[in-house]
Amino acid sequence: MESPFKGDVLKGKVALLTGGGSGIGFELSLQLGKHGASIAIMGRRRNVLDSAVASLHSLGIPAIGFEGDVRKREDAVRVLESTVKQFGRLDILVNAAAGNFLVPAEDLSPNGFRTVIEIDAVGTFMMCHEALKYLKKGGPGKEPSSGGTIINISATLHYTASWYQIHVSAAKAAVDSITRSLALEWGTDYDIRVNGIAPGPIGDTAGVSKLAPEEVMSKERQNVPLFKLGEKWDIAMAAIYLASDAGTENSMVVDIIGGQALKAAGFPNLLRGKYVNGTTLVVDGGLWLSKPRS
Ligand code: HXC
Repeated sequence: MESPFKGDVLKGKVALLTGGGSGIGFELSLQLGKHGASIAIMGRRRNVLDSAVASLHSLGIPAIGFEGDVRKREDAVRVLESTVKQFGRLDILVNAAAGNFLVPAEDLSPNGFRTVIEIDAVGTFMMCHEALKYLKKGGPGKEPSSGGTIINISATLHYTASWYQIHVSAAKAAVDSITRSLALEWGTDYDIRVNGIAPGPIGDTAGVSKLAPEEVMSKERQNVPLFKLGEKWDIAMAAIYLASDAGTENSMVVDIIGGQALKAAGFPNLLRGKYVNGTTLVVDGGLWLSKPRS
């Protein structure tokens, strides 16, 4: 499918993606790379990393894979250091690593619950925390007034409640909260925008095949207002929008909300473009709003 974005919209940027070797994560690696970014992928499985990197290289995309587990601080530190050593800077961190399985709450051990919280929520915070020094304004390769961006991959399960997903729902609720808190603190102090994407059911992914067998999905499809499963590409395009400099034109914002007054009041960040910060963009065809027809 042809991208609606210019091919060089991320030219010169460097992206690190956890879980970027497979599923939605790989599509994000591929599309960020096709739009000009150099790609570092962090994952636990060497063979998955090698094949993802080979695919990117075959398209001429600069890419490297690093083994690491987002639950381990030493891995986070090492992979971030290695990424910046390889490419000279870091502009985009995508937290796409996740763990999941269906289990009734009464059968889930506390350690199973903890495992998913540690991968999704603690892992996301860990990566953000260790990436701060590279992403903040004035960091390696950065302008003194312009920082990088973070995209946290979330879900919609926790907007209401989902059967047999107590662990993931709790973890993704934490991820969304991390997105908002960091957007507030790091947007203000370091010019880092932090956003999320909440995919709905996306075809050809571990999420769907592991969690929703075909008989469930054929029923589910009837409830998606757009009547179809999403594609990994849909999530990748949302990521390119969030990672790029698209957003409100700053001169317009200045005119509309009185830029000089804001500047005088100490809100210089509000005077820039790239104005999307602290949101989790739902890309699910409207499914989370829908109720089965009786
Ligand atoms: C019940 C389970 C279980 C299962 C693991 N556990 N699988 N409990 N049902 N199917 C419990 C174990 O018994 C153990 O608790 C604890 O979880 C840790 O298990 P380990 O196997 O030691 O953990 P680990 O090897 O670290 O594996 C992590 C994992 C695994 C999450 C369990 O599935 C994984 O690595 N998955 C990564 C890939 C993945 O799931 N991708 C899908 C992402 S899709 P005890 O008490 O026995 O010690 C996605 C979509 C979200 O995230 C949105 C959906 C709409």
